Amino acid sequence: MLVIENLEKTYAARGGGQPVHALRGVNCTVKQGDFFALLGPSGCGKTTMLQSIAGLETPTGGKIRIGDKTVFNSDKSIYVPTSQRMLGMVFQSYAIWPHMTVFDNVAFPLVHGRHKAPREEVRKRVMLALERVKLADFAQRLAPHLSGGQQQRVALARAIVHEPRLLLLDEPLSNLDARLRDTMREDLRNLVKSLGITTVFVTHDQVEAMGMADQVAVLHGGSIVQIGAPEEIYFRPRTAFAANFVGRSNTLPGRVTSVERVGGQNLLRFQTAIGEICSSVASDVEAGSEGLCIIRPQAFSPVPDRTATEECANAIGGVLSARSFLGDTVEAQLTVRDTPLRIVLNSYDTVMTGSEMRFSVPFDRCVIVPAER
Ligand SMILES: Nc1ncnc2c1ncn2[C@@H]1O[C@H](COP(=O)(O)OP(=O)(O)O)[C@@H](O)[C@H]1O
Ligand SMILES: [Mg+2]
Repeated sequence: MLVIENLEKTYAARGGGQPVHALRGVNCTVKQGDFFALLGPSGCGKTTMLQSIAGLETPTGGKIRIGDKTVFNSDKSIYVPTSQRMLGMVFQSYAIWPHMTVFDNVAFPLVHGRHKAPREEVRKRVMLALERVKLADFAQRLAPHLSGGQQQRVALARAIVHEPRLLLLDEPLSNLDARLRDTMREDLRNLVKSLGITTVFVTHDQVEAMGMADQVAVLHGGSIVQIGAPEEIYFRPRTAFAANFVGRSNTLPGRVTSVERVGGQNLLRFQTAIGEICSSVASDVEAGSEGLCIIRPQAFSPVPDRTATEECANAIGGVLSARSFLGDTVEAQLTVRDTPLRIVLNSYDTVMTGSEMRFSVPFDRCVIVPAER
């Protein structure tokens, strides 16, 4: 549905500064109907990418296709203006007109757009959009007399009123308070899913991306470091950056000592400060290479005394040096040869600080990624 190839954007130097290379050869494909999140820290190029898709920013190079229509191609000097890209957009500041009613705000794209619709059709479409965001009863209210969440829904209704092919959302929940954000997250996903509109959603909040998206693209310094389903990025991060941006992890530097082929998969032996770790999940590393072993705090299961660990798991023993009981979970620190590891346990697991404990960590929960350059 949306295909982006080799997208480049360099902002010209301003006020004697250096030019900013904001997008560095971005490639990605968004499937029809998918809810696609662009996730990354502030300044990594998310807004630049979204504005380029919208046609509000002109990339320096690359191609963008929406459906079967090329909307940008630097080689062929193709640039289709925003109004012809059939998009719906919601930005961080909802840009709702305060002197207009909810109805007039939502009707704006139909009344002022390129294709002006007849009056009766405008009414029907606006009311349908307002019903979809559960604001039909507020049609005649002035925009300032709405709560933050309601204003957000007005912006959304306005974005979908002309049934766009693609919905672009730039941090649309960031102005809402935490509780409202939780409910809006679900409402927003349900709404776009029920409409079947392909959606590109920009956020710096990993919980938002993980909870809402079908696919997540992790952006770092103008490049996509990984694209995948939330589970894939969490369980099989391809870089330490992706691992640390999505959830928490223990990151152990070390070296790959061997790679063997066992039962159809690669088994790596990896030497670290806490001893040898076996891993069945690795990307872009070979014997001899420096790397990082990523282990999630939830990957550890306690092993009772003298019980052998299973065949496909590492045995990691140490002293439990801190513990906090949080009700649903127990967070603890396990110190192994002077290296502290963060672990999260089930609250029914009995653990005592100061005691020696052994844990089993399956090979497929130890992910080896290349050392950061
Ligand atoms: N109009 C502009 N002129 C110059 N530099 C810009 C402009 N817009 C964004 N940048 C720079 O480009 C980089 C990416 O910005 P942006 O796409 O806004 O990131 P994000 O949305 O991920 O926070 C940043 O370093 C930012 O300072
Ligand atoms: Mg931004």
